[in-house]
Amino acid sequence: MDLHIVILAAGKGTRMKSAMPKVLHAVAGRPLIDRVLETAATLRPETTTLVLGHEADQVRTHFGRRTDVHLVLQEPQLGTGHALLQAAPVLRGRQGTVVLLSGDVPLLTAQSLNGLVQTHEEAKAAATVLTAVAERPYGYGRIVRSQGRMTRIVEERDASPAQRRIQEINSGIYAFELAPLFEALEKIGSDNAQGEYYLPDLVSIYRRRRRVVATYTIANAVEIQGVNSRTELAEVSRMVRQQKNEELMAAGVTLIDPATTYVDTDVEVGADTVIYPCVFLERGTKIGAACEIHSGTRIVNSTIGDRVVIRNHTVITDSSVGNGAKLGPFAHLRPGAELGHDTHVGNFVELKKTRLGAGSKANHLAYLGDATIGANVNVGAGTITCNYDGAAKHQTVIEDGTFVGSNSTLVAPLRLGKESYVAAGSAITTDIPGGALGIGRGRQENKDGWVAKRKRVSSELQVDSSKGVENV
Ligand code: UD1
Ligand code: CA
Repeated sequence: MDLHIVILAAGKGTRMKSAMPKVLHAVAGRPLIDRVLETAATLRPETTTLVLGHEADQVRTHFGRRTDVHLVLQEPQLGTGHALLQAAPVLRGRQGTVVLLSGDVPLLTAQSLNGLVQTHEEAKAAATVLTAVAERPYGYGRIVRSQGRMTRIVEERDASPAQRRIQEINSGIYAFELAPLFEALEKIGSDNAQGEYYLPDLVSIYRRRRRVVATYTIANAVEIQGVNSRTELAEVSRMVRQQKNEELMAAGVTLIDPATTYVDTDVEVGADTVIYPCVFLERGTKIGAACEIHSGTRIVNSTIGDRVVIRNHTVITDSSVGNGAKLGPFAHLRPGAELGHDTHVGNFVELKKTRLGAGSKANHLAYLGDATIGANVNVGAGTITCNYDGAAKHQTVIEDGTFVGSNSTLVAPLRLGKESYVAAGSAITTDIPGGALGIGRGRQENKDGWVAKRKRVSSELQVDSSKGVENV
């Protein structure tokens, strides 16, 4: 049967107190709405519709030119029943089953979603409600049953004290038969505590029409945990991270302290890698096998090879690191750094748009920007590529086997030829041919006996001045 997904995301998300729409807030590096869409996609739906309202433009921008999701606007927001009605233009003339999801319920598994659809289709129901038994049902709609069968859903605010004691809750996730849906939605009224058009009222409407309404109850209420506040965002994030960390450990990664290891959902880590506390591995990052990643390190959208040692407080963004490299402590790879295998990048070394060839080393206090550095190059402490002249960026090329002495200033554009040398403390402004030594500094002069001479001169001056005092 054809499947259609509708995701409600028009609500204001008042409790988030955010200028950003709630569904764009991220859990472990991925926005809520992307998580819901990803789960929905496992059903291979015919259409997917997202109902937007508050800050709709920001959500539109997020989806860019993506064409597989229909975006419809609910304006004003008159309740969940009214929200689903906005999908009518997309769904009119189609048939099959509509699965309704909430943009702020990110933990629902594909398995549960599949179970809902199966139950719905087997029961030939007009509506099937996904429910769970919650320890703390406060705030949710309650499932009212009579002789075991669901008769209606009552919202917290409209519930009697007895109904409030019901622990079975409405997840806000449903399957509907499409054919009668929109006509029935038109029949929903707004005679309730909030004056809104409540989608759960469809249950009573279908019951009156003697249509089948079914329930599908999942065992783990955590799956339908919504994100309504920053506290819930943090709770859900913690659960997602914990799950990710367990997967990593099951795959052979050592986490010294899983509670303080922050790994985004899409990150990959190879076996026998050891991750120390307070490490952040963020979106798009791939770490190889048998690496060591020490505390305080943050890696974003970067690829790290095997057997790489990353010492404390290293920051790596949009970069790649070859096998066997050693970095940090306090190294900074900015976007476009490419480290070859067995390279060393030590403390307070910063690279940007720079390739460091295999076996090359920059061990202390350097800035290497817009540079192409060959293999087995030694970059001395305090080396700076002067890549910017105030108007444009310029390239520095350092060929294989070159030795750059400490505290050198390399003024780009510049090429240091193969196996050349730069004398320490040089300001190099012109190319150095391969095999040559470049010296760019004032020549040193030694003055013999200068110290003794100075002492003599200064003691004579003192005598002079004391005489002067006597003379006064
Ligand atoms: C809703 C259900 C409640 C259920 C709970 C589960 C109703 C009336 N109540 O309550 O039974 O237990 O979800 O989390 O449906 N939305 C719109 N347009 C609107 C109003 C809401 O798109 O006009 C969207 C929200 O952005 C959100 C979803 O619908 O994604 C749920 O709305 P919310 O206001 O959070 O409903 P609850 O009060 O939580
Ligand atoms: Ca909610």
